[in-house]
Amino acid sequence: MDYKRLLEEVKGVEAMSGTIDYLMANYGLPRDAFVQGEGSYLFREDGSRVLDFLSGIAVTSLGHSYPSVVNAIATQAQKLMHTSNFFANENGPKVAFLLDQLISSVTPTHERGKVFFSNSGAEAMEAAIKLARRRQGFGRYQFITINGAFHGRTFGALSATAQPGKKEAFEPVVPGFNHVDAGDIEAVSRLLSTGEVAAVIIESIQGESGVRPLDSGFVRSLREVTKDSETLLILDEVQTGLGRCGSWFDFSFHDIAPDIVVMAKALGSGFPIGATWARRSVADAFIAGDHGTTYGGNPLATASALATLIAMIEIDAPTKAREMGSELTKGLERIDGVETVRGRGLLIGVEVSGVEAPIVARLALEGGLIVNPIGGSTIRLAPPLTVSLEEIEEATRILSDAIKLAS
Ligand SMILES: Cc1ncc(COP(=O)(O)O)c(C=O)c1O
Repeated sequence: MDYKRLLEEVKGVEAMSGTIDYLMANYGLPRDAFVQGEGSYLFREDGSRVLDFLSGIAVTSLGHSYPSVVNAIATQAQKLMHTSNFFANENGPKVAFLLDQLISSVTPTHERGKVFFSNSGAEAMEAAIKLARRRQGFGRYQFITINGAFHGRTFGALSATAQPGKKEAFEPVVPGFNHVDAGDIEAVSRLLSTGEVAAVIIESIQGESGVRPLDSGFVRSLREVTKDSETLLILDEVQTGLGRCGSWFDFSFHDIAPDIVVMAKALGSGFPIGATWARRSVADAFIAGDHGTTYGGNPLATASALATLIAMIEIDAPTKAREMGSELTKGLERIDGVETVRGRGLLIGVEVSGVEAPIVARLALEGGLIVNPIGGSTIRLAPPLTVSLEEIEEATRILSDAIKLAS
């Protein structure tokens, strides 16, 4: 092969038309392509822009290319990008400390915790599953999760995911995962009575299945029955965490103390990083050699996370989410064709009637707004926590027009 010519060719090729076919088809055909982001907007190559009210699925919570995060990544990239986890770096321990402090700030009867870093939400969930199994011992290998839940696509996380459509093609999945209906505390108690359950895993708002908050009474009962049976309670805060729902962690609305908290998405502002926090007596079940990852917690990823957390604390991200969430909710509720608006803070599910959500989302994109259809009648919105009132007005106008056009 003429490798020089190959390099010339790859430099000259137009990505969307020339090489797109080299990507596996698991996301379907991409709707659009963007070359730049700034704040709440994404820009196409031709300079046109769209309002991003999905934030890369609840990832860019500070908006695109937040200056202090960009600066931290660029500076760190010039200094040191990677060492193995045989060595510490200057950012990772600080991020772990800050996460522990943020969890402690919203947790009653807090026990100090420790953090394991990985590269995604699914990996952070895998670490939680393995840690729970390690801590509880060989007899207790089962888990309980809630129907509709989404916990990721790797095999452990997929097994925890309680959405048949996502798993059927990959059966048999990991054994020991039981799914119960939200609110069915009797079913949970029955399973716990076997003495074989290591942990119950919940999202306090089910994001991927349409932004469906769990009932507070149910979450509190779960904490009680798991405590009584020394079963661990794992909170999946991958989508809800780090300010998005109006608190540093959404579990705080239920006034409970979890044993393990799983995080990712917003933590790196777009740079991939996942984190699994556990209270110390649980975290200490992992001993050297039990679990690992080459990249997890490397200097570059944790530089991004450190800058993200500092910025979020400085701007008081949870308060922003609460205030702007309330404005956005009011605007959405005024739109004709919107039946209900659910969620908390800036994680919002809009139930539309008389129109198809995927068609509304397509028309919204044509009008200059990114939202995400879930199923036939739900539209998910997760704008940046830095969103302005003007942007909220613009988004509600575009969505309203899209619903009108679709009906
Ligand atoms: C609640 C929840 N858990 C886990 C995951 C998996 O995260 P990732 O896609 O980073 O693996 C997601 C992703 O959407 C999520 O919403």
